[in-house]
Amino acid sequence: MEQKRYGHFDDQHREYVITDPQTPWPWINYLGNEDFFSLISNTAGGYSFYKDAKFRRLTRYRYNGVPMDNGGRYFYIKEALGESPVWSPGWKPCKTPLDFYECRHGMNYTRITGRKNDVECSVLFFVPLKTWAEVQKLTLNNLSNDVKRLKLFSFQEWCLWNAATDMENFQRNFSTGEVEVESPTPGLPSREGVATVIYHKTEYKERRNHYAYYSVNTAAQGFDTDRESFVGLYNGFDAPECVVAGQPKNSIAHGWSPIASHYIEVELQPGESKDYIFVLGYVENEQEEKYERAEGAVQSSNAPAARSTVQTSLGALDHTIINKRKAHETIARFDTSEKVDKAFAELNRYWDDLLNIYKVESGNAKLDRMVNIWNQYQCMVTFCMSRSASFFESGIGRGMGFRDSNQDLVGFVHQIPERARQRIIDIASTQFPDGGCYHQYQPLTKRGNNDIGGGFNDDPCWLIFGTIAYIKETGDFSILDEQVPFDNQPGTEVTLFEHLRVSLNHVIENLGPHGLPLIGRADWNDCLNLNCFSWDPNESFQTTENKSEGSKAESLMIAGLFVVTAKDYAALCKRIGKDAEAERMQQAADAMAEAVKQYGWDGEWFLRAYDFYGNKIGSAENEEGKIFIESQGWCTMAGIGLEEGLVARSLDSVKKYLDCEHGIVLNNPAFTTYHVEMGEISSYPAGYKENAGIFCHNNPWVIIGETVAGRGDDAWTHYAKILPSYVEEDRQTLHKVEPYVNCQMVAGKDAARPGEGKNSWLTGTAAWMWLTVSQYILGIKPDYDGLLIDPCLPSTAREYTVSRRFRGADYTIHVVNPQGVAKGVKTITLDGQAIEGNVIPFSEGNHQVEVVMG
Ligand code: BGC
Ligand code: NOJ
Repeated sequence: MEQKRYGHFDDQHREYVITDPQTPWPWINYLGNEDFFSLISNTAGGYSFYKDAKFRRLTRYRYNGVPMDNGGRYFYIKEALGESPVWSPGWKPCKTPLDFYECRHGMNYTRITGRKNDVECSVLFFVPLKTWAEVQKLTLNNLSNDVKRLKLFSFQEWCLWNAATDMENFQRNFSTGEVEVESPTPGLPSREGVATVIYHKTEYKERRNHYAYYSVNTAAQGFDTDRESFVGLYNGFDAPECVVAGQPKNSIAHGWSPIASHYIEVELQPGESKDYIFVLGYVENEQEEKYERAEGAVQSSNAPAARSTVQTSLGALDHTIINKRKAHETIARFDTSEKVDKAFAELNRYWDDLLNIYKVESGNAKLDRMVNIWNQYQCMVTFCMSRSASFFESGIGRGMGFRDSNQDLVGFVHQIPERARQRIIDIASTQFPDGGCYHQYQPLTKRGNNDIGGGFNDDPCWLIFGTIAYIKETGDFSILDEQVPFDNQPGTEVTLFEHLRVSLNHVIENLGPHGLPLIGRADWNDCLNLNCFSWDPNESFQTTENKSEGSKAESLMIAGLFVVTAKDYAALCKRIGKDAEAERMQQAADAMAEAVKQYGWDGEWFLRAYDFYGNKIGSAENEEGKIFIESQGWCTMAGIGLEEGLVARSLDSVKKYLDCEHGIVLNNPAFTTYHVEMGEISSYPAGYKENAGIFCHNNPWVIIGETVAGRGDDAWTHYAKILPSYVEEDRQTLHKVEPYVNCQMVAGKDAARPGEGKNSWLTGTAAWMWLTVSQYILGIKPDYDGLLIDPCLPSTAREYTVSRRFRGADYTIHVVNPQGVAKGVKTITLDGQAIEGNVIPFSEGNHQVEVVMG
């Protein structure tokens, strides 16, 4: 396959620059980092939502459309005179060839620029901090020597709020749509800040307390709000009827599909440029504040009633004119270019601060850009989205995962510890009194999700994992005393520490015949469904009832995870004076490690599991699926059998059987037929997803295992194989998905096209890659008393510097490795003084640390 490049990194601006709109797959970015979010592709496709991609979807998006990625925030430009074709700055939807195209995806912003016939249109898209709106600053520039007369159309399509029913319940949907349009009164002179605003208020008059709006900071010459009037029943987004005709219809939607489009006439002198600011926003109003009252109690700052007219779907019958105060306030905050530029600078400063917390200078640009920019950025996006909304996750399928969210936490706890703290409390609140947990919860309600329920027996351990990462980063032990309910039931509150205790108890109270953890519905591998036995194609492997009664199915992955987290918990207990509890759990960890050695070692690697009947899974005895990655990762991370050489042998087997050019596959050989006793894993074609795909999330477990064994070259080789910046260099076409972030899965060696990526952005890979490189390769590990320095390096790494802000103090850590050893810290000096051991004790201020390996 011929490899082509579609873009490149611009590290100085922290951007990925796409120079060809026809990427092998839409390459997207995320706007917003708190409440209001948008997905935006390199051709401006995508959608926006408030907090919850299912229940508060603002704009409509069609997954599975043909061609894909059709629909988004679109601008159309038509020259008023002559026959030149309509074009869009992002190439789509018009697809008129452009004289220049560029899309710059940056930290929570995207700038798309197109040029045609000496007119340049550049649009900056971002969600300002603390704002429930996407701001779009559009700049038109006349590069010619002639006057240009242009017709500019904007376009978005409203989603009827619930993204699921919006795609289903057409018999109702086609009759509910309602809008209002506020346009400056005809005849009155337009003035700066006078906005034409289109409001979407479907269901507002009944139970909804929210509406959306789309404004422009000028008096538009027209608008449209009815899709069929604007687009035309027989046209597509590429050639809407109104745009082709160069004429809006000023349509008011009554049911069917409401949209928002402004029509603006622009005249540009030679060399002149003009900005237009569009705001797509969301508002919530209290019940008693919902409507604008006749007596004019609600006054707006920038569009007083006298200056504007309001048209609504219901016309004179409408007693429910919306209270627009909050919308007007937000619109007024962004009604000039200066205000927008200021808000944009604030967003950039916010990212400066976040990314200044951990920075490396290694001399390897491919490493530095991942560590300093993109890996951390992806972690933040994953924190915000969990697994809900991407171009592979429709935003309606899943809430926040219990295990996913705990793992994601290690990717951002150093940046936004307060939000990590809240996240831990939210997650723990969905736990059951016996330590089991809801597998998922909804972000809007924070309640456990009953559709999926619980019974995933690895889940409880992850709460220990997340909480300990938080305490080590912040030194905030007080979180352990927080009162946290079970299943969100008031009156059931116990301390968070008690939640941790019952979490581990849940494992030891559910052991199988070999003293190994019972797997329940599944462990980390949601597709290894050992108690499911499904023959019904109409049921989901994920939600169907399991037959755990009498099951002997045990998991070596949970065993390793338990040893790691139980040891960490025991150390924590010691720190807080709970010696007996520390001893109890240390013993349990030791017993588990023994059970693994006795019943979990297959001869050359760790077994994966025992099935319902007690048969081995992941053993040389099996025909397919002889070896799996998860147990190699966790048992080596736990250091089980390190002295006896089991760790090294397990890792060698990974290299021999699982590794390939593009990364480490999940299992080998792949399953080629359906095994009812294993479930979904054997449902996937060979080489994809959990059936021998390179499931990037778990590659770092092996990499960390390699660092436990002190094998720096092997750790680095595995790491670089799935590091996006390495893939970016020569495999953009094959890889298909965005080359600046990790994807969940890359097709494995048994697939038709090994190396092809899927499911980009929302994956635990982000947090695990971060943990791996920041703590295990570069080796700067937060610990209770300070920073533990323990790098594990490839022999080529001779020197690097990490700047690390830690609990408010600034450390500059300069590591030299004169002999190119993989591991071993010979000396450390802190501010010129030699220290004992390799923990830099925490103290406030600025510190210079010199580390010599050897
Ligand atoms: C996927 C898993 C995922 C699970 C739960 C399965 O179809 O293969 O990766 O964890 O669904 O959503
Ligand atoms: C994706 C899910 O989000 C995660 O929870 C699971 O561990 C992996 N798939 C592996 O199945």
